[in-house]
Amino acid sequence: MLDDLTRMAEPYKIKMVEPLKILSREERIQKIKEAGYNPFMLKSEDVYIDLLTDSGTSAMSDYQWAGMMLGDEAYAGSKNYIHLCEVVKDIFGYNYTIPTHQGRGAEKVLFPLLIKKGQYVLGNMHFDTTKAHIELAGGIAKNFVIKEAEDTENYHPFKGNFDTERMEAFIKEKGPENIAFILATVTCNSAGGQPVSMENIKEVKRIADKYGIRFFIDAARFAENAYFIKEREKGYENKTVKEIVREMFSYAEGFTMSAKKDALVNIGGLIALKDDEELYRKVQQMVVPMEGFVTYGGLAGRDMEAMARGLEEVLDENYLAWRIYQIKYLGDKLRAAGIPIQYPTGGHAVFIDGKKFLPHIPQNQYPSQVICVELYIEAGIRAVEVGTLLAGRDPITKEEILPALDFVRLTIPRRVYTNSHMDVIAEAVKRVYARRDTLKGLKLVYEPPVLRHFLARLEPVE
Ligand code: F0G
Repeated sequence: MLDDLTRMAEPYKIKMVEPLKILSREERIQKIKEAGYNPFMLKSEDVYIDLLTDSGTSAMSDYQWAGMMLGDEAYAGSKNYIHLCEVVKDIFGYNYTIPTHQGRGAEKVLFPLLIKKGQYVLGNMHFDTTKAHIELAGGIAKNFVIKEAEDTENYHPFKGNFDTERMEAFIKEKGPENIAFILATVTCNSAGGQPVSMENIKEVKRIADKYGIRFFIDAARFAENAYFIKEREKGYENKTVKEIVREMFSYAEGFTMSAKKDALVNIGGLIALKDDEELYRKVQQMVVPMEGFVTYGGLAGRDMEAMARGLEEVLDENYLAWRIYQIKYLGDKLRAAGIPIQYPTGGHAVFIDGKKFLPHIPQNQYPSQVICVELYIEAGIRAVEVGTLLAGRDPITKEEILPALDFVRLTIPRRVYTNSHMDVIAEAVKRVYARRDTLKGLKLVYEPPVLRHFLARLEPVE
């Protein structure tokens, strides 16, 4: 493990660099206007520090790149697929592995096999594409994250936990036959990259067993979650992260994974099942028409090799210690300047509380989006709104949904930026905060009917 001195810097060094273009403030004002005040519409080369997502944006290691050269591009039975299966078995203890092109590909294949029309899928907090695939399969997505997650100011070690009492009451009310499955998202992205404790996972499993309900994990950030368990949960301080991962997944019967996060690759996803051969056969039949033959699922052999190697690398505890520390480093700087963030910081991003940052801007004028626009103008930083613009409208009443959590997500790609970049980000946020009283809201001028935040166009309110 890192000691005091080695903890002060990245546990890797730079072998290849990608120059960053830096525009003037005037140019940035023009670019964001042309983009309809929507950072998704910016060209990435017009961005200085890109914090839109941690998904598919990781820097691969030399070992992963070396693996890319060993791609076995066979349609069936690629040796990279076999390697990937071995790694999944070794880390998670699961017998069946099915690659997919990314996380939502896994959701699209698995969920229709588990959901009957009108059934509920219970989660701590479902990610947007997960919710969308539950609904496409005829299900209803329900969130049961603990109420402490909505209190951004106060510390709780596991804000991603399920409120298991509330969930159990819901199961009793609706009847277990109306629940398709339970899905634990680790870490809980939508609540701020917040971890779920082992105790909570065990309790969810106990409830699932009691009512005969299936239990799966959304594993996108599994290693970051395991690291938090090691740091914060009694009894796990002396276990390895790998042992903790093995225990976490022993309670579930399968997972979907976006490998674009903790598997440290730019594209890829997985479905893995512990031992349900019958479900595995069904997944195989579904994956062929949807994603590709069962031994590649939409990926090249070289992608599967990079993924297998990434899954092993992400368990390196020096890497994880640095990763979690870097997010905290940025979060601590913001907190020290009085900026309201989800506290404690999560595993992959710092989440600014937009409503507290801009209390004078009504929530239906998208305060968090205003901050994103200003961060781009201030320093060419591209952050993402995870608030009212993203929440969209109630499908029946068409009223705007005003979510309890209205965030700006400063999402940190893995192994990409240094702490000098974190200093720039912190300084930019502080400067925007200093002139917050002068900022005005935004209004929509173009609004697509679904997933509006990606393509929406806005303009400042007069
Ligand atoms: N589950 C979680 C928890 C996610 O965060 C994501 C993606 C997915 C599933 C879907 O995976 O993108 O590979 O299809 N999250 C990204 C983000 C897009 O920016 O948070 P995918």
